[in-house]
Amino acid sequence: MKKYLLAVTLLLGSASPLLHAADPEDAVAFRQGVFRAMGWNFGPMGAMIQGRKPFDAEAFAQGAERVALLASMAPEGFVEGTGIQDGFDTRLRDEYWYQQDHFNKLMTQMIEKAEDFSRQVGEGKDREALRPAFGQLAKSCKSCHDEYRARD
Ligand code: HEC
Repeated sequence: MKKYLLAVTLLLGSASPLLHAADPEDAVAFRQGVFRAMGWNFGPMGAMIQGRKPFDAEAFAQGAERVALLASMAPEGFVEGTGIQDGFDTRLRDEYWYQQDHFNKLMTQMIEKAEDFSRQVGEGKDREALRPAFGQLAKSCKSCHDEYRARD
């Protein structure tokens, strides 16, 4: 996982995707897909943490790994000119481009929290012990949504 973190740090530094220069439309579809897949995994995990769903350690561990991997991919979807005012069907506020340092900081925080959380899950901690790291990760999602994701 360290590998991903390094790749992402380089990526954020250069603000361009590693594999290819993304077409703006593809980039929007990509980031929405990544976040949807993230929510797909993160939602049930939250329900388990809160006791609304029985805790399944194996499913939970799988979810934590997936969220960490998806988090490492998310930066690639944020290329120039893909905000709301650019005419895309998106909830991305245009400020992301003018506040890149801050936006990238929130992104890096999420990636680090997801890594840390996945590591703790891998250590075999139980639901109670995982609660703080889960909360930290969820908070990192919210920090960015509050500032850069427009309401539905
Ligand atoms: C650095 C900013 C940032 C962080 C961190 C972040 N998000 Fe998002 N998220 C966004 C933006 C911006 C959108 C809207 C994307 C769009 O519409 O193009 C979004 C959209 C979403 C969506 C809706 C996807 C869709 O199109 O249906 C979900 C679900 C989501 N995020 C979950 C999460 C979760 C879970 C985390 C934390 C583990 C997280 N996000 C962290 C910025 C962020």
